[in-house]
Amino acid sequence: MTQDEMKKAAAYAALEYVESGSIIGVGTGSTVNHFIDALKTIKGSIKGAVSSSEESTKRLRAYGIEVFDLNEVTELSVYVDGADEINPYNAMIKGGGAALTREKIVAAVAKKFICIVDNTKNVDVLGGFPLPVEVIPMARSYVARELVKLGGTPIYRQGVITDNGNIILDVHAMKISEPLKTETAINALAGVVTNGLFANRGADVVLVGTPEGVKTLK
Ligand code: 5RP
Repeated sequence: MTQDEMKKAAAYAALEYVESGSIIGVGTGSTVNHFIDALKTIKGSIKGAVSSSEESTKRLRAYGIEVFDLNEVTELSVYVDGADEINPYNAMIKGGGAALTREKIVAAVAKKFICIVDNTKNVDVLGGFPLPVEVIPMARSYVARELVKLGGTPIYRQGVITDNGNIILDVHAMKISEPLKTETAINALAGVVTNGLFANRGADVVLVGTPEGVKTLK
């Protein structure tokens, strides 16, 4: 089974968590693209979606699924998204696709976070995948110096501007054994919009695509 087939299996398994007549939160990435393809098969039964990126919005609209502005919506039953890494406590690193800030906002509103991953994303300790940090452009050098003080090696993601008009610093070589503490510390730096640690709001259900089938972790 390829990695993409495992992503697809996890994505289709998430349909089980979609309540009919609801508006759902939709994340970003190649696993979520499979989920949006899956949503197409039941599109008549949902009211629509709130999207975490321009990329996902385009795909949803192409399938005729209505995309709502988050400000028009008071409740999201679920948020379905992928992750770059996930630990045994369901804390994640996200933002490989630079959509971390909108992802965090939509996830905050949702009652349940359903994380869809293939089994290469499971790790014991976060930090093997460089941690993305969205930064206001004028604060880039200052925030980079502060991230070094926190023990990381930040690298400017060249040529990438987020949907919010900001830049991304990817923090390499940081072993994150206390994700909640690290998430809070980085977010406290002036100029940081948010970072890709989802520990404060972790996943409620994790659907892991494996060669033996989809495993559900809670
Ligand atoms: C985008 C994300 C994605 O969920 C993460 O990068 C996983 O992507 P993929 O499903 O393509 O492996 O956080 O900002």
